[in-house]
Amino acid sequence: MDITVAFDVYGTLIDPQGITEMLHEHLDGPVASDFARVWREKQLEYSFRRGLMQNYETFAVCAVQAFAYTCSLFGLHPDEEERERIMSAYAVLPAYPDVQAGLEKVRNAGFRMYAFSNGSAEAVDRSLSHAGLAEYFLDIVSVDEVRTFKPDPGVYCHFLRRAAVSSRSAWLVSANPFDVIGALSAGMNAAWVKRSADMIFDPWGIEPMLTLCSLEELAGKLEAYR
Ligand code: 2OP
Repeated sequence: MDITVAFDVYGTLIDPQGITEMLHEHLDGPVASDFARVWREKQLEYSFRRGLMQNYETFAVCAVQAFAYTCSLFGLHPDEEERERIMSAYAVLPAYPDVQAGLEKVRNAGFRMYAFSNGSAEAVDRSLSHAGLAEYFLDIVSVDEVRTFKPDPGVYCHFLRRAAVSSRSAWLVSANPFDVIGALSAGMNAAWVKRSADMIFDPWGIEPMLTLCSLEELAGKLEAYR
C-alpha cells in the first residue's frame, strides 16, 4: 500500500524549547526553560479554546498572546525591541537533532511526505526552510485553510482531502499526544514520537500504533504497514 505521512511540525520536527537560549538573556537557567514550557503550553491552550469557541486567530496570534501571559506570570517586562527579537527567534526555532536523518530515511523509502501543522503555511515554510527541512515535503497542509485547530476532526479530514488519500493509507507522526489521539479518532493511523523518557501518553484508552524514541526509527517501522 502507498503510505502518506503527515508530519506534525512544532514539538515533533521543530523544538519550541529552542527559545530557551535566547531567554537566558532575561531569565536565570531553569527559569528560562520553565518560561519556554509555559509559553508553549499556553499557546496550545489558546488554540484549543479558540477552536472550541469558533473564534479563530492564527497560531502566531496564539503565540503572541501566550507570550504576553507568560511575561506577566514570570514578571518579565521586555521593551518593544526585545519583544520583537524574541518573537522573531520563535519563528525560526531549531529542529530536533534526529529530524534530518529521520526524514532522509523516510524519503529514501519512498513514502509520500507532508508537513501538517497548526501553524500557517507561511510560518511553517519559514521554520522548515530555516532548519533546512523544507525540501523533504510535497506540500504544507495548514489548519489555517479551515480556520480551526488540531484536534478538531475537521482538520484531519482536511489533510486527507488535500493529500488526496484515504484514512487507511495516511499516517500522522507527532510527538504531541493530543494530536496522535486526534488523528486516530478521525480514522488515520498514527505514530507517537516519545521525545523524552518522562513524556506521558494521555491515558484515554486510545494507543498510538507505533511509539518511536527517535524519528530515525520511523522508516523501518512503517515498512511493516506497506
Ligand atoms: C503543530 O501543529 C501541534 O504545534 C503543533 O505543529
